[in-house]
Amino acid sequence: MAGRIPEETVDEIRKSVDIADIIGDYVQLKRQGRNYFGLCPFHGENTPSFSVSSDKQIFHCFGCGKGGNVYSFLMELEGYSFIQAVKTVAEKAGVQLPDDLGEETSKPHDPEAQNVLDAHMWLTKLYHHLLRHSKEGKEALSYLHERGFTDEIIEKYSLGFSPPSQEFVVTFLEKKGFHPQTMVKAGLLVVNDQGEYSDRFRARIMFPLRNHLGKTVAFAGRAMGDQSPKYLNSPETNLFQKNRLLYNFDSARSTIRKSKTVVLFEGFADVISADQAGIHNGVGTMGTAVSQTQAQLLKRYADEIIICYDGDKAGQQATVKAGEILKQTGCTVKTARLPEGMDPDDYIKKFGGERFKSEVLDPSDPYTSFIINYWKRNYNLQLEGDRIAYIEKVVQEVAKLDRAIEREHYLHEIAREFDIAVETLKQEADEVRKKSYTPGRPVPNVEKPQARAPMQSKLLPAFHNAERKLVAIMLNNPVIAEKVQEEIGGAFNISEHQVIVTHLYAYYEDGHESDISQFVERLDDPSIKELAVQLAMSPIGEEVTDQELADYIYRIKAEKTDRTDIKGLIEEQKLAEQHNDPVKAAQIAMEVLKRKKEMRNI
Ligand code: CTP
Ligand code: MN
Repeated sequence: MAGRIPEETVDEIRKSVDIADIIGDYVQLKRQGRNYFGLCPFHGENTPSFSVSSDKQIFHCFGCGKGGNVYSFLMELEGYSFIQAVKTVAEKAGVQLPDDLGEETSKPHDPEAQNVLDAHMWLTKLYHHLLRHSKEGKEALSYLHERGFTDEIIEKYSLGFSPPSQEFVVTFLEKKGFHPQTMVKAGLLVVNDQGEYSDRFRARIMFPLRNHLGKTVAFAGRAMGDQSPKYLNSPETNLFQKNRLLYNFDSARSTIRKSKTVVLFEGFADVISADQAGIHNGVGTMGTAVSQTQAQLLKRYADEIIICYDGDKAGQQATVKAGEILKQTGCTVKTARLPEGMDPDDYIKKFGGERFKSEVLDPSDPYTSFIINYWKRNYNLQLEGDRIAYIEKVVQEVAKLDRAIEREHYLHEIAREFDIAVETLKQEADEVRKKSYTPGRPVPNVEKPQARAPMQSKLLPAFHNAERKLVAIMLNNPVIAEKVQEEIGGAFNISEHQVIVTHLYAYYEDGHESDISQFVERLDDPSIKELAVQLAMSPIGEEVTDQELADYIYRIKAEKTDRTDIKGLIEEQKLAEQHNDPVKAAQIAMEVLKRKKEMRNI
């Protein structure tokens, strides 16, 4: 059947990879006992509460509750459909999938969005073709060649040329069956007051802008000469938001992940030039300041971000803007050293990729160092008053640093430069630090203990904890599950637990061993899925004695009986009220209260 992958294949693919490897591509994981821990990619946190189990092939975050198997992870993080997730894992595992899965299944459900993506795909091809093979495109092609772009890189970035025509694209898209009004909304055509359509991009070098999945969602068109504007971009649409998209992220992602470092450029030309010169972990913002969203995205992949903006005043100002946002991610932020008046592309063209690496990127300054220097331009350091104001500003900044060794380093530098006793500066910095912490808030440089699973919550009644433990054990152990099935069947008191064990009995009856990663595929409700994963992940499900087992079962049964008894009593109470016997009704009500209280005290 087209569009469906057989269950066995889904399982086979899942088993052929280690979930820790796949997640390790996105999250830095540290081994701790039998599990891996890292910072949860689904919610912001500074102490790791995200864990991955290689034994069980599942992940779970104790902080936000997200959990599941390798497919759920990719679906959640990348926004993939199930089929896309399976395909991605299959590719990594080198497993061949049947060809007839059909593209439809991996396409977004929104037909208009798909239409717009298709139009971008066709236009990318058209523009590229015109650049490479048409007479009109010749000049543009030689311009790119003169700028040092090879055919290979032109191909890789699908650079193109939009013809100097009013209606070339109008006709092209019409022939392909696209509705002009939709194309206007998509930003590919423009319409005037008379309702006449025309091409948006004319006589420009075209840079397709791909989203993180590698799909072209917009274009930037560069003027050939000095016309203004130099760059004309697609308008923002549902699929294209400037502050979300990072130029080249889709292609740089794997290098960023491996090197844990990303180089952030300002311009398309810089990204492409750097890539051609062997720096494959470069991405670009679209001439705008880096946004929170982009910063978060980078943080998921990189530990270190090198800002490599133009070596002019505007570039330096933009570096400060970017630096302030990026340092909030907790990544190490550095700034590259470009000579005044050069942009990365100029530098590479002039001195080559090797020198760009060794003299611009490698000696990048830590952001603190950069900003301390940058501020100097605002003061006349010859004047004593300015000098003191500057030093104070620096101390304020240094005081914010978490690590004592870093603070020491910068304070020593300043002490040396201005010939002040370092002790004085340290005292100042300590004062600033003391003031900025309100009591009760943790001091930031004190490492917080590892977040841990709430194994047994004091807040939960005993029967509830017993159920949690029992379900956890059953998920890991079919033999015990069978015992429990005989003893109490599905008679758990918490309805979520009922659902899990009902599926679990069926799962074991089908002849499966314990395999939580496979089992969760059977649970439709995401919150139940997450609960199952959480229970299976917690150490409470590891070992159990017969005595403990009997105890849990007893508690669950007792609760059930009590609940049934209480239900019966409440019925009796109602009857008594109906029969106008308030004394009896009150007596029963007292009894109910007493029973309820006893239950809570177990
Ligand atoms: N930009 C833009 N609109 C403009 C000018 C610039 O969107 N009118 C954005 C583009 O994303 C551009 C980036 O800002 O890549 C940096 O601008 P600039 O340094 O002027 O362009 P370069 O990328 O260096 O282009 P080139 O080297 O071709 O001049
Ligand atoms: Mn440039």
